[in-house]
Amino acid sequence: MLHALYTASAPGKIILMGEHAVVYGRPAMAVPVHQVQATATLTVQDGASDLWIAATDLGQRTALSSAPPVNPLAQAVRLTLTFLQRAAPGGELSVHSTIPLAGGMGSGAAVSTAIGRALAAWAGQTIPAADLSALVYEVERLHHGTPSGIDNTVIAYGQPVWFVKGQPPQPFAIPHTFWLVIASTGIASPTRETVGDVRQSWLADPLRFEGLFDDIAGLVNAGRAAMLAGDWPRLGALFFQNQRLLAEMGVSAPILDRLVDAARLAGAFGAKLSGGGRGGNVIALVEPAAAETVADALRQAGAAAIFITPVSAGAARAALL
Ligand code: MEV
Repeated sequence: MLHALYTASAPGKIILMGEHAVVYGRPAMAVPVHQVQATATLTVQDGASDLWIAATDLGQRTALSSAPPVNPLAQAVRLTLTFLQRAAPGGELSVHSTIPLAGGMGSGAAVSTAIGRALAAWAGQTIPAADLSALVYEVERLHHGTPSGIDNTVIAYGQPVWFVKGQPPQPFAIPHTFWLVIASTGIASPTRETVGDVRQSWLADPLRFEGLFDDIAGLVNAGRAAMLAGDWPRLGALFFQNQRLLAEMGVSAPILDRLVDAARLAGAFGAKLSGGGRGGNVIALVEPAAAETVADALRQAGAAAIFITPVSAGAARAALL
């Protein structure tokens, strides 16, 4: 017999500046993207002895009792139940996401966050953002090895954040709305691989890589000032410079370079890859009137999907085109 239904969701995210260097203690900025969402729905059934976890987009259904520890959905459930100090309810937890999978928009972290919130709703509790973020971080470690924690933070807080690893995140308000065109390559970003490759390169040539990370930190600091001042040409120029350094670190790819060039030629203030690189997406900073032109140019250069996103105080809003 159906007993009760609990639904919760979490947004996608994009990193504005500072990816990779953030793993080495430099600052990064990220914003949530609320129009793409992961949703978890818990149906509690009287008399059901197990909790079935259904990933509807992937056509997968697993019983919690027999799911291996490497199953990220089951891990999110187990960690949340431990936090809530509750035994698993019997029934079904179904998960659905409109965030491109492994596309650099935080699909995994958003799914874990939504699961945490749905179970908390069932338990009649609210998990504070810092605890939820820490819990999601534990799940992210299954996918990414040594994540900095920026993805789980921006998604669990649901606000723009200034992030330095090991320090409390600083949510910030954006005083002047700006517009991004997000171009998804349709290619999964192999974050674990790119983070691992950067680590190898850093170990092989620490001086050079520390220098690159410092240069990126300088750009991120300048980017924050430009964003607060509403100086979009300056912020755009900083995007291009950040992209050049990411390419030097070896995490760009021909498709990402092509998309950045297309955005530049179509009149964007700036563009760069966002997230782990070698796939995932490119973000282009644009004047609202130029958004469609830049979006068309990105499509012609091979983008698989485009989102046009005004980033406004406390939130990022996107429309899937
Ligand atoms: C991935 O979205 C961002 C990286 O900086 C990795 C991390 O911060 O864990 C590439």
